[in-house]
Amino acid sequence: MKTTQVSFTVNSKRYTMSVGKLFGQIPPNELLIDSLRDRLGLTGTKIACKDGACGCCTVIIDGDAVPSCEVLTVDCEGKSITTIEGLAAPDGTLDPVQQAFIDYYAFQCGFCTPGIIMTTRAYLDKNPHPTREEVQDALAGNFCRCISHYHVLDAIESLT
Ligand code: FES
Ligand code: FES
Repeated sequence: MKTTQVSFTVNSKRYTMSVGKLFGQIPPNELLIDSLRDRLGLTGTKIACKDGACGCCTVIIDGDAVPSCEVLTVDCEGKSITTIEGLAAPDGTLDPVQQAFIDYYAFQCGFCTPGIIMTTRAYLDKNPHPTREEVQDALAGNFCRCISHYHVLDAIESLT
């Protein structure tokens, strides 16, 4: 059987993985969320619905916020992926979105928070000065069971 490979970058680190059904290989149907968490140990990206409905697993792929449970790892050839672990600066300084969430207590249990922060980061990179309503629309795919939405909006508003 011909072995193929998939190469991509996660948090500025390049990975090349063998695709196939042998031990240690990436099966063609493996989801990016599982590769990130189980193979790369990047468990900051959370799993909840695993059906594209909650936004907890959101990562940034080539500048776009994407639910990683909706992406096959084999389809990530050449992509640049950023997870919550890659958002802070190399010296540990938090991304302004992360810092604003802390400053405004924009979470309770925190399970949804990595996904919301990644969606916010990607959105603000494209639209740095949105209205509160535009932010609400941008976060429509991210659910928070703890009802932290109002603090989230306040945190994001402080950055715009
Ligand atoms: S776990 Fe991916 S959208 Fe819910
Ligand atoms: S802070 Fe608990 S789910 Fe959002």
